[in-house]
Amino acid sequence: MRVMLEKIKDFVVYDADKEFYAKLFPDSVGRKDLMRLRRMRSSDLAQVIAIEKASYQFPWEEDIFRDCFKANYNCWVCEEEDTVLGYSILAMAVGEAHILNICVAPAEQGQGIGRKMLEHLIETARGRAETMFLEVRPSNTAAIALYQDMGFNEIGVRKGYYQSENGREDAIMLALQIF
Ligand SMILES: CC(C)(COP(=O)(O)OP(=O)(O)OC[C@H]1O[C@@H](n2cnc3c(N)ncnc32)[C@H](O)[C@@H]1OP(=O)(O)O)[C@@H](O)C(=O)NCCC(=O)NCCS
Repeated sequence: MRVMLEKIKDFVVYDADKEFYAKLFPDSVGRKDLMRLRRMRSSDLAQVIAIEKASYQFPWEEDIFRDCFKANYNCWVCEEEDTVLGYSILAMAVGEAHILNICVAPAEQGQGIGRKMLEHLIETARGRAETMFLEVRPSNTAAIALYQDMGFNEIGVRKGYYQSENGREDAIMLALQIF
């Protein structure tokens, strides 16, 4: 029976099917299977901003997220039931994709959510952009490890790009070829 269940599970691709399947066989679907990525809505902003404030020393204010909606950027959340676990924002223009924000709630970090969101952004951009770019603080070793593991390469440094406690901090610029 267990082997048969595993085989059926392999065919279950869509989130809605996984949720249905999880209701029937609760022990057989892992937590990660049930996290879904969907477009961010303005009703998510309270949860998104709470995560933003808990994660960054210099968080984005709400109007920046609203500007991202207005600019039609790709804004995504990763949610489990009605709880937002993380979010990502991607801007695309003339063959370039730029990750503007990717963030996982502190209590949910280290479980593969950041990687899942990054893989999804890469798939979103594939075929529509040739190169994906992002900036990261040199002190952000966890994020740098994730980006390098996903194949991003350092292409330069933006001097004094970020606000920091002691004035300004440089940004490392990373790029990934995605065609
Ligand atoms: C960076 C961030 C998005 C990673 O998300 P996450 O869900 O914690 O990461 P994952 O669990 O998917 O880990 C993926 C990889 O990242 C690296 N990584 C994650 N946490 C790490 C840590 N604390 N130390 C070193 N490497 C780490 C590892 O390479 C890991 O791969 P592994 O699990 O095979 O070892 C998350 O730490 C975060 O939201 N940080 C605060 C906001 C931020 O700094 N965003 C990036 C701005 S540029």
